Amino acid sequence: MKNFLAIFNWKMNPSSLKEALFIASQNDIKTKNVEVVVCPPFIFLSDIKKSIQNIKVGAQNCFFENQGSFTGETSPLMLKNLKIEYVILGHCERRLYFGETDEIISKKIKAVEVNGIYPILCVGENQKEKEKNLTFKVLKKQLQPILKIQRKPIIVAYEPVWAVGGNKPEEPSEIKKIKNFIYDFTERYGKIKNKDIKILYGGTVNDKNIKTIMEKGNVDGVLVGRASLYPKQSLKIIKILEKINADPR
Ligand code: PGA
Repeated sequence: MKNFLAIFNWKMNPSSLKEALFIASQNDIKTKNVEVVVCPPFIFLSDIKKSIQNIKVGAQNCFFENQGSFTGETSPLMLKNLKIEYVILGHCERRLYFGETDEIISKKIKAVEVNGIYPILCVGENQKEKEKNLTFKVLKKQLQPILKIQRKPIIVAYEPVWAVGGNKPEEPSEIKKIKNFIYDFTERYGKIKNKDIKILYGGTVNDKNIKTIMEKGNVDGVLVGRASLYPKQSLKIIKILEKINADPR
């Protein structure tokens, strides 16, 4: 895995395969130290996987069983057989709209790991929790599922719920604090070395704010929603990441 990660979460977009192939093709560039992972809806995974050469394809979710009577679900084994290497799990929209609990997410993480796929665990507090100063308490609970992961690196995306699809990202100084908290917590309770965990930031990242987020937030990459659907922006994001990587931090 390369140094920096750029995870592009397309959510339930775009509406046709033609558009999906176009967006993916625009991001399909050779990079030295940035791992670009486009995460389209399931229905486009296979075609996109076949169409690209330089970047990776990830899924936005999956179930925790490998096969069986689970109407509408997609299994980690199916993803493995498609040679998908990454799966976003615990995204706040999954928690909010589909009732995913930490328990369900924990099962999914185990199942994904067994199938040799990297889970990207999303964690983050909502607006009310932030106002009540509960961020660390929320994170402690949400981080539990990764404490026993064997396969390194472990990938965590800090995504404050209020910043996802919003108009302002979290302050870089706060992001840095959260990163240090995740380091300390996973080291203390999971004996995970800092070098074995990649911490990303997500929530209103775009080509204008990414440089500051990366440099001042000191994170290992970003999880981008909206901006990733606009090839000009996503390409710029990749290029900026490449540049940051070239400069010693
Ligand atoms: P956003 O989404 O970049 O549109 O805020 C982030 C995400 O999906 O996690």
